[in-house]
Amino acid sequence: MSTLGDRIRIHTGDITRLSVDAIVNAANSSLLGGGGVDGAIHRAAGPELLAECRMLNGCKTGDAKLTKGYRLPARYVIHTVGPVWQGGGKGEAELLASCYRRSLEIALGHDCRTVAFPAISTGIYGYPKDQATEIAVGAVSGFLQQNAAPDTVTFCCFDEPMAELYRRAVAAIGEG
Ligand code: AR6
Repeated sequence: MSTLGDRIRIHTGDITRLSVDAIVNAANSSLLGGGGVDGAIHRAAGPELLAECRMLNGCKTGDAKLTKGYRLPARYVIHTVGPVWQGGGKGEAELLASCYRRSLEIALGHDCRTVAFPAISTGIYGYPKDQATEIAVGAVSGFLQQNAAPDTVTFCCFDEPMAELYRRAVAAIGEG
């Protein structure tokens, strides 16, 4: 039986390059594309991704929906909608945790053994990065403790300072 620490990975790089069963997209509620990681995923996956997204009728904040990965190395894309940071008093923390949990429930339902997440809401949506990484690690580790799959979850960071925040959040769980 692998330990929780073995099942959580931290990677610095472009999520569209990862050969995992599913990558998660930090989308908006239209699911029709945008900037940031969403734009990168749509560009790398090709126009078929947008065509499938058009059929999904959008997605609520805190929820997630699955499509195929098309030209991506990942088999699936799980599109989730993070909260826009409004100061912390509008349920942002619970909505962000819900993004991670719902994405993992959907991954589990599609037999995904490996899943990679970007740092949802920490770009255009303005969520403070230290708080967002703690929520991400807390929600993912809680899910992994209760479920045998996915085998591994990768936090894919765009830069090294973000990777360091994840390392600290993972270390804090080990101490807790
Ligand atoms: N690989 C990994 N991480 C990335 C990549 C990439 N290719 N590109 C950016 N990031 P953001 P949000 C990081 O803004 O805050 C879109 O327009 C980035 O450094 O992509 O949830 C959607 O359509 C940051 O840490 O997502 C929505 O309208 C993280 O991904 C809105 O932005 C998330 O930044 C969602 O905003």
